[in-house]
Amino acid sequence: MDFKALATEYKTPLYVYDLDYMSQQYEKLKLAFKGRKSILAYAVKANSNLSVIQHFAQLGSGADCVSIGEVRRALLGGIAPYKILFSGVGKSDDEIREAIEADILYINVESEAELNRVEFIARELRKISRISVRVNPNIDPKTHPYISTGLHDNKFGVDINSAKRMYIKAKNSDALDPVGIHFHIGSQLTELKPIYEASEIVADMVRSLEAIDIKLKFFDIGGGLGVEYDGETTIEPYDYAQAILATLKGLDITVICEPGRFLTANAGYFLTKVLYEKQNAEKRFTIVDGAMNDLLRPSLYNAYHKIEPITEVTGETSKADVVGPVCESGDFLAKDCELPVLEHNDLLVVHSAGAYGFGMGSNYNTRGRSAEVAVSNGKSRLIRKRERFEDLIALEKEFLI
Ligand SMILES: Cc1ncc(COP(=O)(O)O)c(C=O)c1O
Repeated sequence: MDFKALATEYKTPLYVYDLDYMSQQYEKLKLAFKGRKSILAYAVKANSNLSVIQHFAQLGSGADCVSIGEVRRALLGGIAPYKILFSGVGKSDDEIREAIEADILYINVESEAELNRVEFIARELRKISRISVRVNPNIDPKTHPYISTGLHDNKFGVDINSAKRMYIKAKNSDALDPVGIHFHIGSQLTELKPIYEASEIVADMVRSLEAIDIKLKFFDIGGGLGVEYDGETTIEPYDYAQAILATLKGLDITVICEPGRFLTANAGYFLTKVLYEKQNAEKRFTIVDGAMNDLLRPSLYNAYHKIEPITEVTGETSKADVVGPVCESGDFLAKDCELPVLEHNDLLVVHSAGAYGFGMGSNYNTRGRSAEVAVSNGKSRLIRKRERFEDLIALEKEFLI
């Protein structure tokens, strides 16, 4: 990838996505589940650019969405309604209504109270809402606490006993059709055992539901497959699929997988330009034009992203904090990054930035968000314009008095 040419053409800070890499990851995972009916439902939250969604739609992907905005994006990107799932702990009435009217595959229900709302709204609409229940299997996924979701002290899903009550209610309802079961224990998973254990618990639940004549069609294993940011040993898609499939013996059920990070993280690069070098008494800072409002993960989770100079630079290296212009001490892209002495306008590439990068961005400090570019077959194209000051004030300007 010619980062220098891309930075020259589109300026910095800039997100660049390798669509061909995304395709390879998609095909690898799809292949791992061959021999079973399966749907990969791309987790739109990982990277919700419309062109990225469209790319997955063209590969045959479904979409896992956590707001009606994401459902609308998925539809606009060309994903068929019957491959769209809607998850999330706090869906509003309007969101539930729109999802039912759009006739998506199912709503992933995350509480008994929500099930009551879905039933009420479906009845109002004189429709039957397909639902799945998100089960919290109380398994420690061994990942960062902020992205761990399958323990009883997390806000997600319901315990097995509540889930059972919800399925019985749904089966007896004239407005609900229980078609699936869902779990997602966390993100950036690098150990197989918790996934296997969670899947076993949920598969047993499917069997116990069959025993009371509730036959589900979809076994939704969530997302979570980890990727390499910093030399982690990751799970091979084949082993992942085998672990899941081993728990499903004897069940005729379609597997749904909701990968996000696995498909996009290492397809993405964040390009940023050096503004200044600064040596304080204790510390060297490399100040760049990208910041926490562009890439929040280092500030939010202390996440590691490999950073390298793009421009040819020589000489001794030393440790520097790579920081942005945002007015927060927590605004950094890397701590103690080994870098040569850099000059004004030298370019840095931040790796593994394709998931939870742009999407977590903000306009903090009235900074316009970066442009986004897609590269495929050696050709690049702009897929989101850089935000201008006018875009940032558009919803406020008319209220000046
Ligand atoms: C329900 C659900 N599905 C899928 C995902 C995607 O996870 P990942 O990007 O780790 O694959 C998430 C992420 O938080 C999630 O909450």
